Amino acid sequence: MTSANGLLTSVGIIGTGLMGAEHARLLDDEVSGVTVAAVFDTDIDRAATLAKSLTSARLESDPFELITNRDIDALLIASPDQTHEQFVLASVEAGKPVLCEKPLAPTVEACQRIVAAEVEGRRRLVSVGFMRRFDGGYGDLKATLQRGEIGRPWMLHNTHRNASAPPDQPASLLVTGSAVHEIDISRWLLDDEIVAVAAHQPARQLAGGENSAPLLLVLQTAGGVLVDIEVFVDARYGYDVHCELVGGAGTVSLDAPAPTAVRRASAVSRKLPTDWRPRFVDAYRRELQHWIDGLHADVPWTGASAWDGYLVTRIAEACLEAVGTHTRVSIERQERPELYRTD
Ligand SMILES: NC(=O)c1ccc[n+]([C@@H]2O[C@H](COP(=O)([O-])OP(=O)(O)OC[C@H]3O[C@@H](n4cnc5c(N)ncnc54)[C@H](O)[C@@H]3O)[C@@H](O)[C@H]2O)c1
Repeated sequence: MTSANGLLTSVGIIGTGLMGAEHARLLDDEVSGVTVAAVFDTDIDRAATLAKSLTSARLESDPFELITNRDIDALLIASPDQTHEQFVLASVEAGKPVLCEKPLAPTVEACQRIVAAEVEGRRRLVSVGFMRRFDGGYGDLKATLQRGEIGRPWMLHNTHRNASAPPDQPASLLVTGSAVHEIDISRWLLDDEIVAVAAHQPARQLAGGENSAPLLLVLQTAGGVLVDIEVFVDARYGYDVHCELVGGAGTVSLDAPAPTAVRRASAVSRKLPTDWRPRFVDAYRRELQHWIDGLHADVPWTGASAWDGYLVTRIAEACLEAVGTHTRVSIERQERPELYRTD
């Protein structure tokens, strides 16, 4: 679909699993000004099936050729976390915009290499897919706070529950895979930096399996706001995300995700999705449209930058240290490089 001004960006997608396929479908059907021109996945059958389902996508056999190919304008990375760095760095080196799924990379060092490459090239090319910044509910929370309706913020409560997690999922993914969403959205909502973190878990004998036990993170911002994040990836009942901002003059919270309620048999019920895609499909769509529109009009990306991605991974590492040491871990504030300053 071309944009209103007739422009069409050719995107190459690397990684065609759950998220890569979801982004491909949205780009193909619902985002204007873009075409998915090529896809790559180490699972060739999966990539081929996706390519066939799209309007005009070809199957690529080498991810780095896909990145440098002259007919590809921009890249979308949706491969596993530990593969992001190589593809993002290759995109930056090729001078092409790249939207990388969260996290930017799973280690601080990898994120630093990406930031260094972007700073050296003096051009912002990297966008990070923390899509909650494009969710209507979170947008309303931020606007309500900014209008002063609830006074100054004091506390932010976040809950992140998944229906189930694979039994072999490493415990660290509670933080690097799940809580990173809340870490990013908390910084964005409060426009404040996290300076210390602590972690708490229920007694092990209460949990069915060690990796499925819920985790409670307590973060403190430079401005003194307390942020708590419950991550529970084996909650059984469905995918459920809550957020409540408590201010000196009131509170504002996300409401029920389902627009309808069923009343029957002496009960009121609302449907919950089984995973994150239906809950955040509008946010993914808006994120992708904003990315593409920005590429056409040279409008700065307002989502998470490589610097944000780096800070989130840094905070996530501090959380993992807090889990391992049972101590409160401080995070030193760092000067934002010139490239990432908006004022
Ligand atoms: N923003 C969100 O809400 C959200 C939600 C889920 C996952 N994610 C992120 O999206 C990314 C993909 O997650 P997913 O749930 O789609 O995982 P997935 O396992 O469903 O898909 C990953 C795909 O990458 C492929 N792959 C593996 N190694 C590769 C390589 N070296 N090069 C290219 N492809 C490779 C796999 O074959 C698979 O098809 C991860 O970084 C994850 O953290 C983001």
